[in-house]
Amino acid sequence: MTLVRLAEVARVHGEGATAVPALKGVSLEVGAGELVAVMGPSGSGKSTLLNLAGGLDRPTSGTVHIGGQDLATVRDLAALRRRSVGYVFQDLNLIASLTAAENVMLPRELDGVRSRLAREEAMAVLTEIDVAYLADRFPDELSGGQRQRVAIARALVGERRLLLADEATGALDTRTGDEIMQVLRARCDAGAAVLLVTHEPRYAAWADRVVFLRDGMITDSTSESLVSAR
Ligand SMILES: Nc1ncnc2c1ncn2[C@@H]1O[C@H](COP(=O)(O)OP(=O)(O)OP(=O)(O)O)[C@@H](O)[C@H]1O
Ligand SMILES: [Mg+2]
Repeated sequence: MTLVRLAEVARVHGEGATAVPALKGVSLEVGAGELVAVMGPSGSGKSTLLNLAGGLDRPTSGTVHIGGQDLATVRDLAALRRRSVGYVFQDLNLIASLTAAENVMLPRELDGVRSRLAREEAMAVLTEIDVAYLADRFPDELSGGQRQRVAIARALVGERRLLLADEATGALDTRTGDEIMQVLRARCDAGAAVLLVTHEPRYAAWADRVVFLRDGMITDSTSESLVSAR
């Protein structure tokens, strides 16, 4: 089952003389159980691709389907995103006035889950990635790597089946990065689809498929299972 499908997607940022064609006709499908890594130089369109795949941005042309639904026809995109898409942002986007646990609870509470249950879910996922002890700290009381793990917990909480991670392992030491990859891989094996932007071949090696972007186009794609690094 395809959880996200981009068909001939183009995205131009800005207009007129300053217009930047960030993506130029990209087609990509990620199915349940699949971990796809996106690699490419800075400015090649990786974050743009992820934003489109998660319905955070709309394509200039082409179509995006999440869970079979054409995003162009979805009325409440925010609700669809909260229920279906877990997102780890490149700049994390944790809310400074909320504790780590409250940050992780937030998408569930916005979706109508009662606080007590949302807190239990948050603690379960914080425990899964070994940061339950940070639950009551605020983002500015956390190290970069700890913040990153909290952001990952927020993406994993609930039943969301499409996980999009932009450099999710960026600020992590390799051991922690490997642990996070293990968690993502396990989610995949349980039926999630993961699209992961990374600069590190070490992490791309966990993927079923690696897609290479350059100047807004997919230039290469490997389906080779790079199991050697696992
Ligand atoms: N909101 C925006 N307005 C104007 N241009 C943008 C905007 N967002 C991205 N761009 C441009 O689009 C191109 C692709 O940007 P994008 O952020 O997708 O690259 P990236 O591959 O994620 O890079 P990095 O590895 O540095 O994160 C770049 O040329 C960038 O400057
Ligand atoms: Mg980026």
